[in-house]
Amino acid sequence: MGVLLFSSISMAGCGKKEQKSTEIKIGVCGYDQYDTYLSQLIQCFDKCTTDGVNVEYVYASQSQITQNEQVEKLITKGVDVLCVNLVDRTAPNTIIDLAKKNDIPIIFFNRELVEEDITQWPKLYYVGADAIESGRLQGELAANMLRRESVNADKNGDGRIQYVVLEGEAGHQDAIVRTEYSVNTLIEQGVDVDKVGYAIANWNRAQAQTKMAQLIERTENGIELVLANNDDMALGAVDAYNSAKISADERPLIFGIDGTDVGLEAVVNKTIMGTIYNDKEGQAKAMYDLAIALAKGESVSSLNLEDGRYIRLPYAKVDAANVLQYIHK
Ligand code: BGC
Repeated sequence: MGVLLFSSISMAGCGKKEQKSTEIKIGVCGYDQYDTYLSQLIQCFDKCTTDGVNVEYVYASQSQITQNEQVEKLITKGVDVLCVNLVDRTAPNTIIDLAKKNDIPIIFFNRELVEEDITQWPKLYYVGADAIESGRLQGELAANMLRRESVNADKNGDGRIQYVVLEGEAGHQDAIVRTEYSVNTLIEQGVDVDKVGYAIANWNRAQAQTKMAQLIERTENGIELVLANNDDMALGAVDAYNSAKISADERPLIFGIDGTDVGLEAVVNKTIMGTIYNDKEGQAKAMYDLAIALAKGESVSSLNLEDGRYIRLPYAKVDAANVLQYIHK
């Protein structure tokens, strides 16, 4: 299911190059077509596509079995290289075996497989970002804002900040790590905190709204800070406050991660206080350049791969002061 057309779009913006002589075929496999950040990352990848390069995009609707079948089909169709956003990052073996058997390099992205798996074969790569960094930066951004006198976050005046965490999918490298480092950084920065709840909302705005509504009720609107593992869940929290008709000055400070279009817009409107930019343009370009080099059988040494396999793009803090520079990135 979800097999979209072959596109050979030529657009400006992402390292436009000429690739005339032979046609290159790339297969891009996404874990789910409804994930906001992932869709935007894939749009950025599509903008990188140059003449003579065909890309087929498929989405697995969160089923690893579907994704394995999609990979098999793409290989039968003759792709030169695959970019795979695993559904289950602990179950890459079927895909790795197919790649080895057919000698097709794979660039995994966004959902990171463990080291023992990626080192199974030299032609396996990973493009993403460092989850620890995103958590740390979120903690710093929140601590900094809590320190500002103009931001009266401690609504009950007890000298402590009552917070909740909205977590991404269990088992995703970005979920556990972002939570841990965000909260620990806040504490290291001298903020006294009380955890009054947490919920797993699987990166999803609607699930976050439901869970947040329960937390608001349970704490009798006693939450002063919301740390969300991504922007969609931060926006789900905003939706819950909107539905509960709680006025702006009785709401907590809310922070996300990603800098998706909707996330940045919320920073502009101040419905969320900040986000951590997850560089989709940089990741898409790195994937594309690597894919082209691998498809052509060229050396990848100029791409500065860590341990010969990894490319990780840095995150950045975004708040009302610098948000505009990210909006038209
Ligand atoms: C992003 C999430 C996204 C997830 C998908 C994370 O890096 O922050 O927004 O849902 O990747 O795998």
